[in-house]
Amino acid sequence: MSKALQTEPLTRRVFAIISHPDAGKTTLTENMLLASGAIHQAGKVAARGEARRTQSDWMKIEQERGISVSSSVMTFEHRGLTFNLLDTPGHEDFSEDTYRTLTAADCAVMVLDVAKGIEPQTLKLFEVCRLRDIPIVTFINKLDREGVDPFDLISEIEDKLALDVVPMQWPAASGRRFKGVVDLRTQKFLAFEKPESGKDHSWMPVGGDSITTHFNDDALLDEFREEAELAREYPDFNEQSFREGHMTPVYFGSALRKFGVLELIDALAELVPPPQPEPAIKAGQNIQIDPTDKEVTGFVFKVQANMDLNHRDRVAFYRMVSGEFKRGMKLKSFDGRSLNVHNPVMFFAQDRELAEEAYAGDVIGIPNHGVLRVGDSLSESGKVKFAGIPNFAPEILRRARLEDPLKAKHLRKALESLAEEGVTQLFKPALGADMIVGAVGSLQIDVMRERIKTEYGLGVQFEVPPYQTARWLTSDDAAKLKYFVDKNTVNMAEDIDGDPVFLAKSAWDIGYAQEKNPDIRFLTTKERR
Ligand code: G4P
Repeated sequence: MSKALQTEPLTRRVFAIISHPDAGKTTLTENMLLASGAIHQAGKVAARGEARRTQSDWMKIEQERGISVSSSVMTFEHRGLTFNLLDTPGHEDFSEDTYRTLTAADCAVMVLDVAKGIEPQTLKLFEVCRLRDIPIVTFINKLDREGVDPFDLISEIEDKLALDVVPMQWPAASGRRFKGVVDLRTQKFLAFEKPESGKDHSWMPVGGDSITTHFNDDALLDEFREEAELAREYPDFNEQSFREGHMTPVYFGSALRKFGVLELIDALAELVPPPQPEPAIKAGQNIQIDPTDKEVTGFVFKVQANMDLNHRDRVAFYRMVSGEFKRGMKLKSFDGRSLNVHNPVMFFAQDRELAEEAYAGDVIGIPNHGVLRVGDSLSESGKVKFAGIPNFAPEILRRARLEDPLKAKHLRKALESLAEEGVTQLFKPALGADMIVGAVGSLQIDVMRERIKTEYGLGVQFEVPPYQTARWLTSDDAAKLKYFVDKNTVNMAEDIDGDPVFLAKSAWDIGYAQEKNPDIRFLTTKERR
């Protein structure tokens, strides 16, 4: 085994940031990249707030709604470790996209606004994390603004998310009185200096003279010491419980004031697990693939089309699970498609670089012309299959109607391509020539309409069809499934993989059909192979 194959995976940390819009995810991302030296100037990643709304890169919809639609990956280095930060869309309508991204992350940072605590979208995204019990580090942001009492915030996290919470730091007040945070393990105090004072944030002994001068307010210092003492009563940090997704360590800071950001990266360096063995199936056997196994294996968790409209490229984001990837290597999907990977890219802040080699925990972008799909397992042998990435039953179904009916073929291609990318789902009814699209949230439909217009030049209307919901059908008894499908052609459709889907008017109809056909399973999720 090459030495690099043994040592490189240990230096990778893959994580994602989740937050309710406006809690500060973009600011934190940017300042992490600044703190680690990956970028040198603010504003390179993505503009914040209003600026982002007007400058947004490729989609009008992002400007109109002020939301970040597409996820991407950014790489930075710190203390000899390579961090791959996977960005997730903040809006709940894209929770499917977030779920897919989280399948490739080994940890999530949950950003909370100190004044707002757990917001609706935090809860939704957390539920997505819980589906995989992914470890979560909590960062309470905006301490430079008046906030909720940290004891109350911690209780809120405990109650609403049913997590054990361990503060790793404790803040001294917030807003105008904010003085800094103490590291509850080392007892060192990180002083918050106002930027205008020109001083860097610095650590000082909690019992020393400097802290007294820094506080300049005995009552506040006493209050802080008392609180920090109480904060030590929380349970000790337990690595196993954290890794199993039951316990979250909490850090405090202000992303905007660059306070606590470097400390958060240090914490991630310590806490985010390096790539772990991943369960897979090979030759019909359940196996564990170790990051240091020789064969290159991994899976596609995201496909993004037209990142650069001039090139009309399509990039598959491939999370490596094992092996030593070299540029030019041939990789095969589990179902026999093969691809020579000549131009794999890695993403450093906004730059792309050719990846000459990559290891477990790396995310490489593989440009392709529609060969790769979300959920594909890719390996040298083509015999390895990781758990697929699920599609969720759509909550919104729409019939696509072209403004120019002569362009039906083009529309089908566009819809198929967007379905392969995972933007929306596509169902082809057994009868008629309709194309039904499905989405979990209505913004997905808006994004699709906009992209069909800008990328394919097609005007399309979306109408409400006579069905509201869809279920994937499976059965251990193929004859019974076929009988059901033949008997219910009016309600049957195929998804993009050709699998049978039952379209129903209501959940009641599904319940009824299920009751009458106990040998058939009506599934709300389907794993993409
Ligand atoms: P998001 O990606 O989670 O949606 O949040 P984003 O970083 O865009 O931040 C949302 C707003 O919160 C921005 O203000 C940003 O400057 C502000 N913010 C982020 N972190 C902090 C912090 O630690 N302290 C304070 N006080 N504010 C913070 P905006 O007014 O929408 O944008 P801008 O005009 O400041 O750029």
